[in-house]
Amino acid sequence: MNRDTAARRITELTELLNEHNYNYYVLDNPKISDTEYDGLMQELIKIEEVYPDLVLPDSPSSRVGGAPAAGFETVSHLVPMLSLSNAFGEQDLRDFDRRVRGGLAGGTVEYVVELKIDGLAVSLLYENGFLVRGATRGDGETGEDISRNLKTINSIPLRLRRPLELLEVRGEAYLPKKEFARINREREEAGLPTFANPRNAAAGSLRQLDPRVAASRALDAFLYGIGSVSGINVTGHRQSLEELQELGFKINPNVRAFNDIEQVIDYCREWAEKRHDLPYEIDGMVVKVNDLSLQTELGATSKSPRWAVAYKFPAEEVETVVKNIFVRVGRTGVLTPTALLEPVRVAGSTVSSATLHNIDIVREKDIRIGDHVVIHKAGDVIPEVVRVVRDKRTGKETEFHMPGECPVCRTGVQRVEGEVAVRCPNETCPGREREGLIHFVSRDAMDIEGLGPAVIDQLLSAGLIRDAADLYYLKAEDLLELERMGRKSVENLLNAIEKSKQKDLSQLIFALGIRHIGARTGKILAAQFGSMARLQAAGLDELTAVPEIGPKMAESIVAYFREPVNLKLLDRLKAAGVKLTQETQQTGERPFDGKTFVLTGTMEKYTRKEAETIIESLGGKVSSSVSKKTDFVVAGKEAGSKLDKALALGVTVISETDFEEMSG
Ligand code: IVH
Repeated sequence: MNRDTAARRITELTELLNEHNYNYYVLDNPKISDTEYDGLMQELIKIEEVYPDLVLPDSPSSRVGGAPAAGFETVSHLVPMLSLSNAFGEQDLRDFDRRVRGGLAGGTVEYVVELKIDGLAVSLLYENGFLVRGATRGDGETGEDISRNLKTINSIPLRLRRPLELLEVRGEAYLPKKEFARINREREEAGLPTFANPRNAAAGSLRQLDPRVAASRALDAFLYGIGSVSGINVTGHRQSLEELQELGFKINPNVRAFNDIEQVIDYCREWAEKRHDLPYEIDGMVVKVNDLSLQTELGATSKSPRWAVAYKFPAEEVETVVKNIFVRVGRTGVLTPTALLEPVRVAGSTVSSATLHNIDIVREKDIRIGDHVVIHKAGDVIPEVVRVVRDKRTGKETEFHMPGECPVCRTGVQRVEGEVAVRCPNETCPGREREGLIHFVSRDAMDIEGLGPAVIDQLLSAGLIRDAADLYYLKAEDLLELERMGRKSVENLLNAIEKSKQKDLSQLIFALGIRHIGARTGKILAAQFGSMARLQAAGLDELTAVPEIGPKMAESIVAYFREPVNLKLLDRLKAAGVKLTQETQQTGERPFDGKTFVLTGTMEKYTRKEAETIIESLGGKVSSSVSKKTDFVVAGKEAGSKLDKALALGVTVISETDFEEMSG
């Protein structure tokens, strides 16, 4: 591929990927599959590697992270980023309304009411339509330049849909509840301390010097205001949100306007109830005067504007009793102390157990069996003990001690130096295997409907399965023997298992439970390697060369494929008809599809690596030796024995110029 073709393809792919990205992440309306998207992305990355000077400022490849930085630069905000004064009850909102009316000459006041997203305040600066800087709020005057981390947020446009000379927008970067729970689950299994709430997790991800950390977490952002702008005229806040939406930003859909504070209060009440149904956490509502000229008239104190207020929901904490503390064995062997609670309703559901994370936390909070405790849901999802109600202690409470052996297989536990976690080291511990099976069938993995923990337990105790491959050899007559398994449910279960054989390769890679390999990494690996066999054959170097695959992940993959039990499992999955490959992407022109090339001698215009990348990006393969199966031998200067062999075998020999023409 010559420079001109590369430049054209880079522009094409950049625009295409940015558009698909917008459809997927902002409009929530994908037009192509994830695999197709990943294929296009890999193609772009490969061409950019050959021509780094042609990379566009809005290249979607900047979303994957890149090498760690030494530190963050300090940036001054063009306009200070104020914070909001708080209202803790309905009366505070009525007082706010009175203050607003008192400060104005009269007439109606229209309020815009928004959700108060619990994340990290950020500022995004666009010049001539391109994102040039992303920063934290900091102290309001100066913040930190976290551009590279913010670029990993797919819903943040790298380029506006309409160019403006200058635009500075503000919003909230956040972690969805599900993602928060996933990160904490993975951290717990890796023996790392968990995040207290999605806000800390979002801040922790965005303030990492290594942007690959942010890239590996599905952060998102809602934008809610303009700091400075040239090129658009708006008179109201609601209108500015509409403008922002048109420019390509993600705006929260639950924005309403009211003329009466009582209606505002009703709307806040409504969300206090409904907030648990949202996929992200909100900690209140924000009420803003809509009219921008009235905003100016009201002005601001040094800390916060007088035209807006944050209505904070009361923290949802309830009291209950710790009936017992037991130990759960995770997929990677981590033993997690868990409190069995007197069931109570909190944050929208009934809770009967809560993770205590690790023994250090049990000690720190001094949680004992029989204690009255206050619980909440971290990130609105994970039940946790906040504190013990010491006044209610009777002296009958008992201290909990971590067992010296695994409660399931009785193997002696280990505590890894520097980790908070205690582990069961037995790879074939039935407790670990059970969790591995639950993971295998879960939604993001093989997604086998109707196969929850209860059924897995039934299958395990009936001796019908031991590992994931056994699922594919289950027979109707065996299942019919089980309790509560009628003809219909057996049929449904077997159908769901059958259907899972065709799941994406990425899901299977994730389902295997290879340490450090999450759902997203599964997708990257599937797009890169296209088959389990190729992934298995990949060495450390090849793996770490893949964007977002770090050395720890690479080592873990190599180690996985070294284990005979794992290879046997894969063989049995294959024999059962589980799909272990993925159609390679037909993206753009791929004139070299299925063709094998051998390079020999020195080329003038390309290094060997460049030529290889070009061949691969156009669908071809590069081999190091000539055989009858070779389609082309590219002969450069001083070509030697490979050229002779090609001529002897009658393989087509082409010159560098031919190659250049063929590759466009
Ligand atoms: S407006 C000058 N709107 O809440 C007004 N803030 O102190 C600027 N927040 O950390 C804030 N959702 O980032 C506004 N819809 C929303 C918001 C929101 C969350 C955050 C904001 C800041 C805090 C307010």
